[in-house]
Amino acid sequence: MSKVAVIGAGYVGLTTGACLADLGNDVTVVDIDEEKVALLRRRQVPFYEPGLRELVERNARAGRLSFTTSYSDAVSGAEFAIIAVSTPEGEGGEADLSHVEAAAASIAGAMDGALIVVNKSTVPPLTGDMVSDVLKKHNARHRAAVVSNPEFLREGSAIQDFMHPDRVVVGSNDREAAEQVAGLYAPLQAPVLITPNIYTAEMVKYASNAFLAARISFINEIAWISERVGADAKLVAEGMGLDKRIGPTYLDAGIGWGGSCFRKDVMALTAVAERYDYHPELLHAVRDINRDQRMLVIDLLREKLEELPGRVIGLLGLAFKPNTDDMRDAPSVDIAKVLLTAGAEVRAYDPAAMDRSKQLLPQVVYCKDAYEVATGADAIVLVTEWNEFRQLDMSRIKQLMRRPVIVDGRNIYDPGAMKGLGFTYRGIGRE
Ligand code: UDX
Repeated sequence: MSKVAVIGAGYVGLTTGACLADLGNDVTVVDIDEEKVALLRRRQVPFYEPGLRELVERNARAGRLSFTTSYSDAVSGAEFAIIAVSTPEGEGGEADLSHVEAAAASIAGAMDGALIVVNKSTVPPLTGDMVSDVLKKHNARHRAAVVSNPEFLREGSAIQDFMHPDRVVVGSNDREAAEQVAGLYAPLQAPVLITPNIYTAEMVKYASNAFLAARISFINEIAWISERVGADAKLVAEGMGLDKRIGPTYLDAGIGWGGSCFRKDVMALTAVAERYDYHPELLHAVRDINRDQRMLVIDLLREKLEELPGRVIGLLGLAFKPNTDDMRDAPSVDIAKVLLTAGAEVRAYDPAAMDRSKQLLPQVVYCKDAYEVATGADAIVLVTEWNEFRQLDMSRIKQLMRRPVIVDGRNIYDPGAMKGLGFTYRGIGRE
């Protein structure tokens, strides 16, 4: 059992804190947002992540997990301080490290003995050195080792990803500190890679996310070509994925990637490369393809509806992916904005993200379910592949619509079955 301070009660901090408490550690999560901490003390979680509320509840009740706004409460006597604060995209695309820097300064002010500071926030290579410098500057008395331990948590399956990781990556210039951090994960029995310097571990995170984003942009480019030659992109991906060297994941063509990580990480990696006078051509293409992919939906709607002004377009799903209420970099936002600017009426339904969406897209008409979205619509666009959209009564949907046009932005419907029901169907990379 270790005493652990987690800095930041966002997706990563809260999931990490709750999971480490569940593994038996004594965890205190500190956040400067008083409202958030008050909410957590009432055992409520400020965002939607399956299973997290129950995990927080169970471990808080058992006395292994607590929340505070005071750094000294959290850090005093701790063996580990895990930094999990946000690193938003800065103006030039580089990661904005001001929260990490502030967290390091506050840790330094609060530590009262030797401490291992673990960086979990997604930070570009060389940030570990900055954290080290800040710790030294604000605290000369105690030894602090800095370790990079990137997270690979996906929203919607964050707890599962934490408890059953493909790998744990830990890197530090201080080998002993790295091994101690790896020890926190020992109960998970996952493969562990300890890198002999901190920069390598930091780079693993960026390279992994950029690669996943690249796979998706790659398959979206293949989808475009497939459609032109009369191939079905979904089956092309299936055929590719059966090759063990390629594998089947992150090959779903659609309206592209969104979320809090991919765009930010690809931008930040690009910025790092350019700082060293290298032009990362592939990373630029990965991003450009993704931007264009969102607009493909608009082209398909124009093709089927001839014009957009006055048309009623229904969006099924708004979150950047299913099982989350997260709207960060969600394709739905760009798509809805372009449709509204073009003079269309936009109706939408999402099982979890409507509250957040109302703040971003106030002109959209929000509906209580998919059937209400379909009522009077000239077209519907499947934006987020929530399971409940797979089970819809499509004959009823068709009857409710003014024109039976479906743009399936995630290729979840069977084109033949849709056409059989009388829909004008368009998938991505297949007719
Ligand atoms: C991602 C990484 O997977 C995770 O390791 C990292 O820690 C944070 O960023 P997340 O943003 O939660 O996680 O989402 P993920 O499930 O990876 O999906 C990202 C986006 O790609 C979503 O918009 C999703 O719809 C899209 N996607 C995913 C595709 O378009 N096609 C695919 O085949 C897979």
